[in-house]
Amino acid sequence: MFADRVLSGMRPTGRMHIGHYHGALKNWIKLQEEYECLFFAADWHALTTHFDESETIADSVWEMFVDWLAAGVDPTRATLFIQSRVPEHAELTLLLGMITPVGWLERVPTYKDQQQRLVDRDLSNFGFLGYPVMMSADILAYRANKVPVGEDQVSHIEVTRELARRFNHIYGREPGFDEKAKGAIKKLGRAKAKRYETMRTAFQEQGDTQALEAARELLEETQNLSLGDRERLFGYLEGSRRVILPEPQPLLTETPRVPGLDGQKMSKSYGNAILMREEPAAVTRKIRTMQTDPARARRSDPGNPEHCPVWPLHQIYSSQETRDWVWKGCTTAGIGCLDCKQPVIDAIIKEQQPMRERAQKYVDDPSLVRNIVADGCERARKLAEETMRDVRDAMGLSYD
Ligand code: TRP
Ligand code: SF4
Repeated sequence: MFADRVLSGMRPTGRMHIGHYHGALKNWIKLQEEYECLFFAADWHALTTHFDESETIADSVWEMFVDWLAAGVDPTRATLFIQSRVPEHAELTLLLGMITPVGWLERVPTYKDQQQRLVDRDLSNFGFLGYPVMMSADILAYRANKVPVGEDQVSHIEVTRELARRFNHIYGREPGFDEKAKGAIKKLGRAKAKRYETMRTAFQEQGDTQALEAARELLEETQNLSLGDRERLFGYLEGSRRVILPEPQPLLTETPRVPGLDGQKMSKSYGNAILMREEPAAVTRKIRTMQTDPARARRSDPGNPEHCPVWPLHQIYSSQETRDWVWKGCTTAGIGCLDCKQPVIDAIIKEQQPMRERAQKYVDDPSLVRNIVADGCERARKLAEETMRDVRDAMGLSYD
């Protein structure tokens, strides 16, 4: 609703692997060049499934931050913080919970999936059911409008959008809304007011969503509006409610599939991962012993890269030329698997060299990370507090 703001979180799972890097962090690093970014460790989210291992969370959080910094997340551009250090997330979770139909949560696909997949865990808790509500609070507490996530999280963002709409519908009501909105339009000045009204009509009468977008941009560029008028003008574009919590958009990350060493999904808990800051010797050993197309039992047997977990790594790390060489060499038994793996080994070691270098100072002096995160928590808290003031106001809980 205000300027573009990007927010994303990760559950702390300890040292990160190249799947995290290519699936999320690389994208964050691009986004921080262009947008105001907030990135946080979702420690409360970790508790929804791992409440009985809470003692491991803190270490995982610090490891994770070092990996973010190693990957190139820049603390002078992005705000890094810990969810539980910003208690406003909990307050907003509670308040959103009041307007969340339980049926919405039971219908989120990840809810049933996870319960079925993680059979060794008891996931019949209130906290786990409320996972998407807490995630909504994470996002809405900052009025973030862009949320980079993987495919598996999109259904949660959909809940966030519905909750924002519902919140605005219930608490954005105000007596004399139309008159107040019209008064606010006058304050835009003649030219802007006219453009605003034209675009509003185009949206409301013809469903012109480009006009809606353009009108929003016009409001974003306008400095001299009070917060109340801003909320009214955003809301008036679409109906007759103030927009207190804007609906976010998921930024779907183009995520290449990064297979583990055994061809299964890469995961630290499966023991098939290449970590983001792996010693070169370990990278070499892991890739050299990695599974290949079972059809190539002998060097003289031709193979099919489509049946080999090394191939997706070439798709991430190799040039077209190298990939052509692999394809030809594999299918004609012209090259051996170790020949084929070498360019991947070289590329991973090269990619990780600057990461290991960047990480070194944080490993040597953990107080650097502590300070970055303490600053980040403080900044995040200020932003969340601003939103919460409006939320409490809208709900009639300000007691001034
Ligand atoms: N649920 C996300 C995941 O498992 C992590 C997360 C928590 C998140 N809160 C968020 C991501 C808010 C984006 C925005 O990956
Ligand atoms: Fe896999 Fe390469 Fe061996 Fe083919 S040559 S089976 S692509 S490692």
